[in-house]
Amino acid sequence: MKYTVTILRFNPEQDEKPHQERYSIEAQEGWTVLDALNEIKWYRDGSLSYRRSCRHGICGSCAMTIDGVNRLACETQLATLKSEFVVEPLRHLRVIKDLIVDMEPIYTKLLEIKPYFIEKGPPPSDHERLQSPEENKKLDGLYECIICGSCTSSCPSFWADGEYLGPHAFLKVNRFVADSRDEGKAERLKLVDNRHGLWRCHTIFNCVEACPKSLNPTKAISALKRALVGGQF
Ligand code: F3S
Ligand code: FES
Repeated sequence: MKYTVTILRFNPEQDEKPHQERYSIEAQEGWTVLDALNEIKWYRDGSLSYRRSCRHGICGSCAMTIDGVNRLACETQLATLKSEFVVEPLRHLRVIKDLIVDMEPIYTKLLEIKPYFIEKGPPPSDHERLQSPEENKKLDGLYECIICGSCTSSCPSFWADGEYLGPHAFLKVNRFVADSRDEGKAERLKLVDNRHGLWRCHTIFNCVEACPKSLNPTKAISALKRALVGGQF
């Protein structure tokens, strides 16, 4: 099957502004967008730059905008696209080169919300911190985030406010707030209760549509807002 791939290219060291380049490829059955990019880079134009690592939807490094939607290149089958499609870098993140964006804002915001267990006392001496199956079930849909940046880069509130923490950070906050073993709930909620935090979310839902893992950051944001208003923690 023949495909025409239009890629937004930009090398800040050489180009004044981004430009599109078109490549025609002959794809084999079962190919993904990542396979198409590899074909272009390995056999047509070695200067094309993009991130990839696991090729199995786990590392999150191949997130990009494909026909206007943030997706993982390694999980997007060409068969689900039209014969002509457009590939661009994730929006509202600085382009380092071609499809590679600066993920620093995503990681910085994640660190701001303390993405680790907060424990007040010493650990039990004879066993690990235990959790019942029911308590563990509450983390389903919250722990699976691969930090690809798709949700936050699709969020208009992030476009308007670069300091907005963003849906990926809120999902992580909810992951710890919902964890029976964590003892930092009040501290965590305080971190997101400000003008760059939860209240800047206008329930636009782009983040839900963009998540390649089918997670629901909007639901997590609502749960955190309810917790704050209800003073549950
Ligand atoms: Fe943004 Fe998602 Fe809220 S798209 S405004 S974080 S619902
Ligand atoms: Fe790891 Fe695509 S290469 S998620």
